[in-house]
Amino acid sequence: MSDDYIVFGAPDIREPEIQEVVDTLRSGWIGTGPRVGRFEQAFAEYVGSRNAVAVHSCTAALHLSMRVAGVGPGDEVITSPQTFAATANAILHTGATPRFIDIRRDSQNLDPEAVGRFLEEECRADRKTGVPVHRASGREVRAIMPIHIAGRPAEVDAFRELCDAWNLLLIEDGAHAVGTEVGGRRVGSIGDLTCFSFYVTKNLVTGEGGMVTTDDDDLAARLKVFALHGLSADAWKRYSDEGFSTYEVVVPGFKANMMDLQAALGLHQLARQEEVIARREVVWATYDRELADLPLGLPAPPAPDTRHSRHLYTVMVDPARSGKTRDQVQGELHRLGIGTGIHYLPVHLHDYYRREFRYRRGDFPEAEWVGDSTLSIPLSSKLTEAQVARVVEGLRTVLAN
Ligand SMILES: Cc1ncc(COP(=O)(O)O)c(C=O)c1O
Repeated sequence: MSDDYIVFGAPDIREPEIQEVVDTLRSGWIGTGPRVGRFEQAFAEYVGSRNAVAVHSCTAALHLSMRVAGVGPGDEVITSPQTFAATANAILHTGATPRFIDIRRDSQNLDPEAVGRFLEEECRADRKTGVPVHRASGREVRAIMPIHIAGRPAEVDAFRELCDAWNLLLIEDGAHAVGTEVGGRRVGSIGDLTCFSFYVTKNLVTGEGGMVTTDDDDLAARLKVFALHGLSADAWKRYSDEGFSTYEVVVPGFKANMMDLQAALGLHQLARQEEVIARREVVWATYDRELADLPLGLPAPPAPDTRHSRHLYTVMVDPARSGKTRDQVQGELHRLGIGTGIHYLPVHLHDYYRREFRYRRGDFPEAEWVGDSTLSIPLSSKLTEAQVARVVEGLRTVLAN
């Protein structure tokens, strides 16, 4: 890649985290240890949750959250098809089945009214448990999993009401939502369990990494056990100078623990989150202003009393309006040295999901419209004014030709 190529989600790594990684390497303890503990505590404080459990990815966070909450074979989890495949894959990893419900076109988030209609019209409440059973599949619906897409909050209050009425869990995919707020509450302090991603393109980067937050101490304790082989005590406690202790496997757990090397990055990235979001807001406002007259759809303004974490700035390229397909625009921007992303090809249209569940184009029209038109242009706290100007100029050139 040439030096002046602008990637769509450049990580913003600075000197304090570089120094902390070096210190970690020199400390002799690079695995799960004290830095992970500090990162968990700081993250729980940042979102306003009682507990935070660090893992090696959001995919693991989603999978383990559902496992500890008892979601498994024979269950269904309601989610949006307009997400990264990991959301739905994680549901399948538990043995459960995703129940896709369409999004609202403006917010690109799971539509609570459509979810309500599904529960009212296509489910019956089980006589003993009160849990909804999907009549057509015979499966129990156990959870609603909204995604805070691009950093815009999902309608969590409406989902909470549905969850309370139908005895469902609210498990949020907050991969894009570090710092997202609804009515003064941070995402991570709202649902039963919330899962975050610290992947390289995210607002908060640990390379690979994820976190689960929950107010439920029991679920948090189970998450720790499930994330480390099902052992009764983690490695730090087994081998540190606090004294060697024996352990037992209490469940056949997984291997999803975060390392201190990752937490070394996370600690400083987290401390700078507000600054990062503020810088992203400035870039966002420039795009809103400078792209307003172009034949493109721009992101909907944030809903009242919410804060958008400004993770992805997605323009909508509709050939009828833009005169070009999204893929043409993407290709031409690439040739101008401007990287973009597509978030996302809807999950139901991926090969596996078409084959296994017989999904077809037309099943979720709103998600498909977004999937066909969406293009994420560069957004990062690392972008310079000159780079932002190049992105604006690039879009002007491509759409003028
Ligand atoms: C909406 C969404 N969910 C889940 C994931 C999975 O995150 P990770 O890569 O940390 O496993 C991503 C990551 O890219 C995502 O964008």
